[in-house]
Amino acid sequence: MTQLNRRTLAAGLACAPLAALLPHGAWAQKPIVLGFSQVGAESEWRTANTESIKSAAKEAGIELKFSDAQQKQENQIKAIRSFIAQRVDVIAFSPVVESGWEPVLREAKAAKIPVVLTDRAVNTKDPSLYVTFMGSDFVEEGRKAGRWLVEKMKDGKGDVNIVELQGTVGSAPAIDRKKGFEEIIKADPKFKIIRSQTGDFTRAKGKEVMEAFLKAEGKKINVLYAHNDDMAIGAIQAIEEAGMKPGKDITIISIDAVKGAFEAMMAGKLNVTVECSPLLGPQLMAAVKDIKAGKPVPKRIVTEEGIFPMETAAQEFPKRKY
Ligand code: AHR
Repeated sequence: MTQLNRRTLAAGLACAPLAALLPHGAWAQKPIVLGFSQVGAESEWRTANTESIKSAAKEAGIELKFSDAQQKQENQIKAIRSFIAQRVDVIAFSPVVESGWEPVLREAKAAKIPVVLTDRAVNTKDPSLYVTFMGSDFVEEGRKAGRWLVEKMKDGKGDVNIVELQGTVGSAPAIDRKKGFEEIIKADPKFKIIRSQTGDFTRAKGKEVMEAFLKAEGKKINVLYAHNDDMAIGAIQAIEEAGMKPGKDITIISIDAVKGAFEAMMAGKLNVTVECSPLLGPQLMAAVKDIKAGKPVPKRIVTEEGIFPMETAAQEFPKRKY
């Protein structure tokens, strides 16, 4: 090869688009990597939420690193630290409880990795620790449950004794759903919460705690307010085993609107469910792409939701996606 030819080839190589020099497909853009720390698999809702996130990531071409915390905050903190160490592009998580996140969120911020909160909020005075929070308004869900009860019992005389199955202690939905419900029922002193305990958002715990409520209060109980459908479904079993009729002897209100709740309503065992949508995957992936592209995203993205009394269950059931 002449000196000139060698020079021409070198110049050509320098100018040629790199893609032309690489094997087919190797020049394709690197996918965005999202680290997602999920609460666990405690409920039908959570399973639908996980499925929504996994399928939306696939659809969006986002590489998902998924970690299940089995309802333990320490596992979520470990997962977030590992995402930071792996230098993912974005971290998203659904915090099991509200408090105790500032140190790890500061680590993510120092590593310049944007954080998205999905479903549940964190308690922090520094909103710069996360980019956006997308999910339901849990206080409003509690209010919807309360308003339905007040309307249903408006003509009744005498006390309305309520037992409450709370969600996971310290979690945003447990705190807020209690708050919203109490805000509404306090307007009339006939509504009395006579027992309130956590059922940790699971069917097994919901059943166990309802058994204890029934043992302690028996036929005094008029209403069960469960912070999610799974606990209500567990409690329905306990009520039946105690020889009572759920949905009749005890009015049952719950939250989520999962298919299991519609089945219970169609069987006449659950009176109403307030919707809380787990289908956050597509919204999350859109936000992740916007963040990576440097586009602004709103600080709070609230999910639109309804309420389904048992009379609407048969008609709505075929339309349910989760
Ligand atoms: O954070 C949402 C709540 O968590 C859902 O109501 C419940 O079912 C889930 O476990």
